[in-house]
Amino acid sequence: MIFKKKSKVAVNADKKLSHIAFIMDGNGRWAKKRGMPREYGHVKGAENFQRVVRHCGDIGINTVTVYAFSTENWNRPENEVAQLMKLLYQYIDSAVRELEKNEIRFIFLGGKEKLSPELRERMEELERLSEKYSLTLNIALNYGGRDEIVHACNSLIKEGKTEVTEQDISSHLYTKQSPDPDLVVRTGGDFRISNFLLWQSAYAEYYFTKTLWPDLDSKEIDAIVENFCTRHRRFGGL
Ligand code: FPP
Repeated sequence: MIFKKKSKVAVNADKKLSHIAFIMDGNGRWAKKRGMPREYGHVKGAENFQRVVRHCGDIGINTVTVYAFSTENWNRPENEVAQLMKLLYQYIDSAVRELEKNEIRFIFLGGKEKLSPELRERMEELERLSEKYSLTLNIALNYGGRDEIVHACNSLIKEGKTEVTEQDISSHLYTKQSPDPDLVVRTGGDFRISNFLLWQSAYAEYYFTKTLWPDLDSKEIDAIVENFCTRHRRFGGL
Protein backbone atom coordinates (compact mmCIF):
# COMPACT_ATOMS: atom_id res chain seq x y z
CA MET A 1 0.00 0.00 0.00
CA ILE A 2 1.30 3.43 -0.89
CA PHE A 3 0.17 6.62 0.81
CA LYS A 4 2.60 9.29 -0.31
CA LYS A 5 2.06 12.89 -1.21
CA LYS A 6 1.81 13.22 -4.98
CA SER A 7 0.77 16.00 -7.30
CA LYS A 8 -2.92 15.07 -7.74
CA VAL A 9 -4.18 17.43 -5.04
CA ALA A 10 -6.40 19.61 -7.30
CA VAL A 11 -9.63 18.35 -5.77
CA ASN A 12 -8.42 19.33 -2.31
CA ALA A 13 -6.05 22.07 -3.48
CA ASP A 14 -6.44 24.42 -0.53
CA LYS A 15 -6.21 21.49 1.91
CA LYS A 16 -9.60 22.27 3.42
CA LEU A 17 -9.99 18.59 4.11
CA SER A 18 -7.27 17.42 6.42
CA HIS A 19 -8.94 14.47 8.18
CA ILE A 20 -11.40 12.08 6.54
CA ALA A 21 -13.00 9.12 8.32
CA PHE A 22 -14.76 6.14 6.74
CA ILE A 23 -17.41 3.75 7.98
CA MET A 24 -16.64 0.93 5.54
CA ASP A 25 -20.06 -0.69 5.26
CA GLY A 26 -21.51 -3.06 2.68
CA ASN A 27 -18.92 -5.81 2.26
CA GLY A 28 -21.41 -8.57 3.11
CA ARG A 29 -24.06 -7.32 0.67
CA TRP A 30 -21.45 -6.82 -2.03
CA ALA A 31 -20.51 -10.50 -1.76
CA LYS A 32 -24.11 -11.72 -1.50
CA LYS A 33 -25.02 -9.92 -4.72
CA ARG A 34 -22.40 -12.06 -6.41
CA GLY A 35 -23.49 -15.30 -4.75
CA MET A 36 -20.32 -15.36 -2.66
CA PRO A 37 -19.81 -15.79 1.11
CA ARG A 38 -19.66 -12.62 3.25
CA GLU A 39 -15.99 -13.30 3.95
CA TYR A 40 -15.22 -12.74 0.26
CA GLY A 41 -16.75 -9.27 0.64
CA HIS A 42 -14.32 -8.53 3.45
CA VAL A 43 -11.37 -9.64 1.31
CA LYS A 44 -12.49 -7.27 -1.45
CA GLY A 45 -13.21 -4.61 1.19
CA ALA A 46 -9.67 -4.91 2.53
CA GLU A 47 -8.28 -4.52 -1.01
CA ASN A 48 -10.39 -1.44 -1.58
CA PHE A 49 -9.39 0.01 1.78
CA GLN A 50 -5.81 0.06 0.51
CA ARG A 51 -6.81 1.79 -2.75
CA VAL A 52 -8.89 4.37 -0.87
CA VAL A 53 -6.10 5.18 1.59
CA ARG A 54 -3.66 5.59 -1.29
CA HIS A 55 -6.02 7.94 -3.11
CA CYS A 56 -6.62 10.05 0.00
CA GLY A 57 -2.84 10.46 0.32
CA ASP A 58 -2.65 11.42 -3.35
CA ILE A 59 -5.14 14.25 -2.89
CA GLY A 60 -3.32 15.73 0.08
CA ILE A 61 -5.38 14.47 3.01
CA ASN A 62 -3.14 14.20 6.09
CA THR A 63 -5.20 11.90 8.28
CA VAL A 64 -7.42 8.98 7.33
CA THR A 65 -9.42 7.04 9.91
CA VAL A 66 -11.21 3.78 9.14
CA TYR A 67 -13.67 1.74 11.17
CA ALA A 68 -12.31 -1.77 10.72
CA PHE A 69 -13.86 -3.65 13.65
CA SER A 70 -16.23 -2.35 16.30
CA THR A 71 -16.75 -3.41 19.91
CA GLU A 72 -20.12 -4.78 18.68
CA ASN A 73 -18.63 -6.78 15.78
CA TRP A 74 -17.61 -9.55 18.25
CA ASN A 75 -21.30 -10.56 18.11
CA ARG A 76 -20.94 -11.74 14.51
CA PRO A 77 -20.60 -15.48 13.74
CA GLU A 78 -17.32 -16.90 15.00
CA ASN A 79 -15.99 -17.74 11.54
CA GLU A 80 -16.64 -14.20 10.24
CA VAL A 81 -14.84 -12.70 13.25
CA ALA A 82 -11.94 -15.12 12.70
CA GLN A 83 -11.76 -14.17 9.02
CA LEU A 84 -11.73 -10.44 9.81
CA MET A 85 -8.98 -10.94 12.40
CA LYS A 86 -6.97 -12.94 9.87
CA LEU A 87 -7.34 -10.21 7.25
CA LEU A 88 -6.30 -7.57 9.74
CA TYR A 89 -3.28 -9.61 10.82
CA GLN A 90 -2.22 -10.13 7.20
CA TYR A 91 -2.61 -6.46 6.43
CA ILE A 92 -0.69 -5.30 9.52
CA ASP A 93 2.04 -7.84 8.84
CA SER A 94 2.47 -6.56 5.27
CA ALA A 95 2.37 -2.94 6.48
CA VAL A 96 5.32 -3.66 8.81
CA ARG A 97 7.27 -5.04 5.85
CA GLU A 98 6.35 -2.13 3.57
CA LEU A 99 6.84 0.61 6.12
CA GLU A 100 9.60 2.49 4.32
CA LYS A 101 7.84 2.33 0.97
CA ASN A 102 4.59 3.75 2.34
CA GLU A 103 5.81 6.32 4.89
CA ILE A 104 2.62 6.23 6.95
CA ARG A 105 2.15 6.60 10.65
CA PHE A 106 -0.21 3.88 11.93
CA ILE A 107 -2.28 4.36 15.06
CA PHE A 108 -4.80 1.81 16.33
CA LEU A 109 -7.92 3.10 18.06
CA GLY A 110 -9.57 0.82 20.60
CA GLY A 111 -8.72 -1.43 23.52
CA LYS A 112 -6.09 -4.00 22.63
CA GLU A 113 -6.71 -6.37 25.60
CA LYS A 114 -9.35 -8.44 23.79
CA LEU A 115 -7.15 -9.11 20.78
CA SER A 116 -4.83 -12.09 20.35
CA PRO A 117 -1.26 -11.61 21.65
CA GLU A 118 0.15 -12.15 18.11
CA LEU A 119 -2.07 -9.45 16.63
CA ARG A 120 -1.38 -7.07 19.49
CA GLU A 121 2.35 -7.54 19.19
CA ARG A 122 2.26 -6.78 15.45
CA MET A 123 0.05 -3.71 15.99
CA GLU A 124 2.35 -2.32 18.65
CA GLU A 125 5.37 -2.96 16.46
CA LEU A 126 3.75 -1.11 13.56
CA GLU A 127 2.82 1.84 15.79
CA ARG A 128 6.34 2.03 17.20
CA LEU A 129 8.17 1.70 13.88
CA SER A 130 5.96 4.18 12.05
CA GLU A 131 6.04 6.93 14.69
CA LYS A 132 8.40 9.08 12.63
CA TYR A 133 5.98 9.60 9.72
CA SER A 134 3.46 12.41 9.61
CA LEU A 135 0.73 11.14 7.24
CA THR A 136 -1.51 9.26 9.65
CA LEU A 137 -3.74 6.25 9.23
CA ASN A 138 -5.92 5.55 12.26
CA ILE A 139 -7.38 2.05 12.23
CA ALA A 140 -10.28 1.61 14.65
CA LEU A 141 -10.10 -2.01 15.79
CA ASN A 142 -12.17 -3.21 18.72
CA TYR A 143 -13.36 0.37 18.80
CA GLY A 144 -16.57 1.90 20.15
CA GLY A 145 -17.18 5.61 20.69
CA ARG A 146 -18.90 5.14 24.05
CA ASP A 147 -16.25 2.68 25.21
CA GLU A 148 -13.60 5.24 24.25
CA ILE A 149 -15.22 8.02 26.31
CA VAL A 150 -15.58 5.69 29.32
CA HIS A 151 -11.94 4.66 28.92
CA ALA A 152 -10.89 8.33 28.84
CA CYS A 153 -12.91 9.11 31.99
CA ASN A 154 -11.41 6.16 33.84
CA SER A 155 -7.90 7.25 32.86
CA LEU A 156 -8.64 10.73 34.23
CA ILE A 157 -9.99 9.27 37.49
CA LYS A 158 -6.82 7.19 37.83
CA GLU A 159 -4.82 10.39 37.41
CA GLY A 160 -6.72 11.80 40.39
CA LYS A 161 -8.97 14.27 38.55
CA THR A 162 -12.22 15.19 40.28
CA GLU A 163 -13.33 17.68 37.66
CA VAL A 164 -12.56 17.58 33.95
CA THR A 165 -12.56 19.88 30.93
CA GLU A 166 -13.37 19.11 27.30
CA GLN A 167 -9.66 19.33 26.60
CA ASP A 168 -8.96 16.69 29.30
CA ILE A 169 -11.37 14.29 27.61
CA SER A 170 -10.04 14.97 24.09
CA SER A 171 -6.49 14.39 25.24
CA HIS A 172 -7.38 11.00 26.76
CA LEU A 173 -9.20 9.58 23.73
CA TYR A 174 -7.57 6.99 21.47
CA THR A 175 -7.45 9.73 18.82
CA LYS A 176 -5.50 12.17 21.00
CA GLN A 177 -2.79 12.48 18.34
CA SER A 178 -5.16 13.48 15.53
CA PRO A 179 -7.28 16.54 14.84
CA ASP A 180 -11.05 16.01 14.86
CA PRO A 181 -12.40 14.61 11.58
CA ASP A 182 -13.58 17.18 9.03
CA LEU A 183 -15.66 14.66 7.13
CA VAL A 184 -17.15 11.26 8.00
CA VAL A 185 -18.18 9.13 5.03
CA ARG A 186 -20.42 6.09 5.37
CA THR A 187 -20.85 3.66 2.51
CA GLY A 188 -23.59 1.03 2.22
CA GLY A 189 -26.72 3.20 2.28
CA ASP A 190 -27.50 3.41 6.00
CA PHE A 191 -27.88 6.76 7.76
CA ARG A 192 -26.33 6.18 11.15
CA ILE A 193 -22.99 6.59 12.86
CA SER A 194 -22.85 3.25 14.69
CA ASN A 195 -20.84 4.36 17.73
CA PHE A 196 -18.03 5.85 15.60
CA LEU A 197 -16.00 8.88 16.77
CA LEU A 198 -18.88 10.17 18.90
CA TRP A 199 -16.91 12.85 20.69
CA GLN A 200 -14.65 13.83 17.81
CA SER A 201 -17.46 14.26 15.24
CA ALA A 202 -19.23 17.05 17.12
CA TYR A 203 -18.65 19.43 14.18
CA ALA A 204 -17.80 16.98 11.42
CA GLU A 205 -19.59 17.04 8.10
CA TYR A 206 -21.25 13.78 7.08
CA TYR A 207 -21.62 12.12 3.71
CA PHE A 208 -23.72 9.01 3.14
CA THR A 209 -23.52 7.02 -0.07
CA LYS A 210 -25.40 3.94 -1.24
CA THR A 211 -22.21 2.61 -2.80
CA LEU A 212 -21.06 -0.59 -1.11
CA TRP A 213 -17.58 -0.29 0.37
CA PRO A 214 -15.72 -2.54 -2.10
CA ASP A 215 -17.06 -0.34 -4.95
CA LEU A 216 -16.08 3.07 -3.56
CA ASP A 217 -13.61 4.35 -6.15
CA SER A 218 -11.36 7.38 -6.53
CA LYS A 219 -13.85 9.14 -8.84
CA GLU A 220 -16.54 9.03 -6.16
CA ILE A 221 -14.08 10.06 -3.45
CA ASP A 222 -13.15 13.12 -5.54
CA ALA A 223 -16.84 13.97 -5.92
CA ILE A 224 -17.35 13.58 -2.15
CA VAL A 225 -14.36 15.84 -1.43
CA GLU A 226 -15.63 18.40 -3.95
CA ASN A 227 -19.01 18.35 -2.22
CA PHE A 228 -17.32 18.82 1.16
CA CYS A 229 -15.36 21.82 -0.17
CA THR A 230 -18.62 23.58 -1.11
CA ARG A 231 -20.02 23.34 2.43
CA HIS A 232 -19.97 26.31 4.72
CA ARG A 233 -18.88 25.13 8.16
CA ARG A 234 -20.01 27.44 10.92
CA PHE A 235 -18.97 25.48 14.03
CA GLY A 236 -21.96 26.87 15.86
CA GLY A 237 -21.25 30.46 14.78
CA LEU A 238 -22.84 32.48 11.96
C1 FPP B 1 -19.02 -3.70 7.38
O1 FPP B 1 -19.56 -4.44 6.29
C2 FPP B 1 -17.60 -3.93 7.44
C3 FPP B 1 -16.94 -4.44 8.51
C4 FPP B 1 -17.59 -4.87 9.75
C5 FPP B 1 -15.50 -4.66 8.46
C6 FPP B 1 -14.68 -3.69 7.67
C7 FPP B 1 -13.49 -4.42 7.26
C8 FPP B 1 -12.83 -4.34 6.09
C9 FPP B 1 -13.14 -3.35 5.05
C10 FPP B 1 -11.76 -5.29 5.77
C11 FPP B 1 -10.57 -5.29 6.69
C12 FPP B 1 -9.93 -3.98 6.89
C13 FPP B 1 -8.62 -3.72 6.95
C14 FPP B 1 -8.22 -2.45 7.58
C15 FPP B 1 -7.58 -4.63 6.43
P1 FPP B 1 -20.71 -5.47 6.61
O2 FPP B 1 -20.11 -6.82 6.76
O3 FPP B 1 -21.51 -5.04 7.79
O4 FPP B 1 -21.55 -5.39 5.31
P2 FPP B 1 -23.14 -5.56 5.19
O5 FPP B 1 -23.76 -4.35 5.85
O6 FPP B 1 -23.35 -5.57 3.72
O7 FPP B 1 -23.49 -6.84 5.85
